[in-house]
Amino acid sequence: MSATASDRAAAEAPDERLTFPDGFLWGAGTAAYQVEGAIGEDGRAASIWDTFCARPGVVCNGDTGEIAADHYHRYAEDVELMRRIGLDAYRFSVSWPRVQPTGAGPVNAAGLDFYDRLVDALVSCGIDPVLTLYHWDLPQALQDRGGWGARDTAARFADYAEAVADRLGDRVALWTTVNEPWCAAFLGHAAGVHAPGLTDPALSLRAAHHLLLGHGLAVQALRSTLSGDHELSVALNLSPVTAATDSEADSDTARRIDGLLNRMFIEPLLLGGYPADVREDIRHLTDWGFVHEGDERVIASPIDLLGVNYYTPTTVGAAKPSSVPRPWAGAARPRSGVTEKGASPWAGTDGVEFHQPEGLPRTAMGWAVQPRGLYELLLRLHEDYPPIPLIISENGAAYDDGADDLGRVHDPQRVRYLRAHLAMTHEAITAGVDLRGYFVWSLLDNFEWSFGYGKRFGITHVDFENQRRSLKDSALWYRDVIAANAVA
Ligand code: FCB
Repeated sequence: MSATASDRAAAEAPDERLTFPDGFLWGAGTAAYQVEGAIGEDGRAASIWDTFCARPGVVCNGDTGEIAADHYHRYAEDVELMRRIGLDAYRFSVSWPRVQPTGAGPVNAAGLDFYDRLVDALVSCGIDPVLTLYHWDLPQALQDRGGWGARDTAARFADYAEAVADRLGDRVALWTTVNEPWCAAFLGHAAGVHAPGLTDPALSLRAAHHLLLGHGLAVQALRSTLSGDHELSVALNLSPVTAATDSEADSDTARRIDGLLNRMFIEPLLLGGYPADVREDIRHLTDWGFVHEGDERVIASPIDLLGVNYYTPTTVGAAKPSSVPRPWAGAARPRSGVTEKGASPWAGTDGVEFHQPEGLPRTAMGWAVQPRGLYELLLRLHEDYPPIPLIISENGAAYDDGADDLGRVHDPQRVRYLRAHLAMTHEAITAGVDLRGYFVWSLLDNFEWSFGYGKRFGITHVDFENQRRSLKDSALWYRDVIAANAVA
């Protein structure tokens, strides 16, 4: 086409591409227990997820992470998939019980060797390794000594962080300490739907504090161990909370839940202390005696990036006097695949009803799709808190997709989900938010915690019978987005 004809064509069909800033980091993520398998190899000891999965009736279909996506053995093939997609970065987590089987003391060199090989394979393809130290698989030996309920676990976590940094710090520049402390604390210790499967709201608050303390101590350990350029972050699951009606009772319920879900984690990290209203709201559960002098300073140790994991918004109202509060049954983001009976509320949710926002499409998890929620979240972080670069460390959706005879997987709903969330990401950047990158959850179909293998979040389909991988349409679409650094 001549220059004039193409100019005319451009004028008639204006470029509707949303172009991202130069250097924007395009990635995809996984987590050790969800993909690695090989739970008994090379000296790895049991994690709390191995123990939890062995309990009858807690994971759909009795699934476990024993084999998962066999990433431990197939990492080279998976790095090749990443190269085909064109990823700039791969977010993976390190399994603590592989590296330090008893959660303390000597390091298991053979366990660290795996991550060494993985990091080398990534680096040789020009893919940045983005390493998460804790994605929920605590060594069972530490659980036996009190787990996150015990203050000592935070100190052990810093030691483990140092051991990993010693070995991989020369090649890994971007580090995340803890993934979603809210889930680890509340789903694991109050709702009982994640490992270690406890239902003790007071304990869950103590666990939340120790997870945050562990984060702060690990940041300090990483700063003193790592030389050269590196960036430290933490990944929070955040969700905008809306009141079901504008009644005073519903608005106050929304304030409470926003406090427990978002501000209880953001504020100690970025403002140096727990919000006063949250402390007050849950005084009936704890006297907060587990917060020692100086802890909040440790938790607020400066980080370089804040990771935001976003999937769905949250709508709440005050429970009607006659209704029995079963927050988990109606929660915006239910996390139990098996049974809601017996699941006790997470801390501080007495008198709260979770609503499903009306008129929104849902994913296979039943989670409402609301891309605008991501924009609101990013703007709020930008406007209400001290400046900190943000990264979307997780965003994605499960749909019931399967491969056809030729191994093709058509997943138009996932493409729509990702495109809409990237459009909101772009809008946030345009509005001035300092957003450095975006990580799709997930690179691979994997073990979706208490839902087992039934919920597929991957942009790569995994046939769990034979471990065959097939890029879904969404992966091919994402490849084009990355190549153009733009969304059409
Ligand atoms: C997040 C977890 C991740 C995955 C997605 C769907 O809460 O961090 O491991 O389960 O949800």
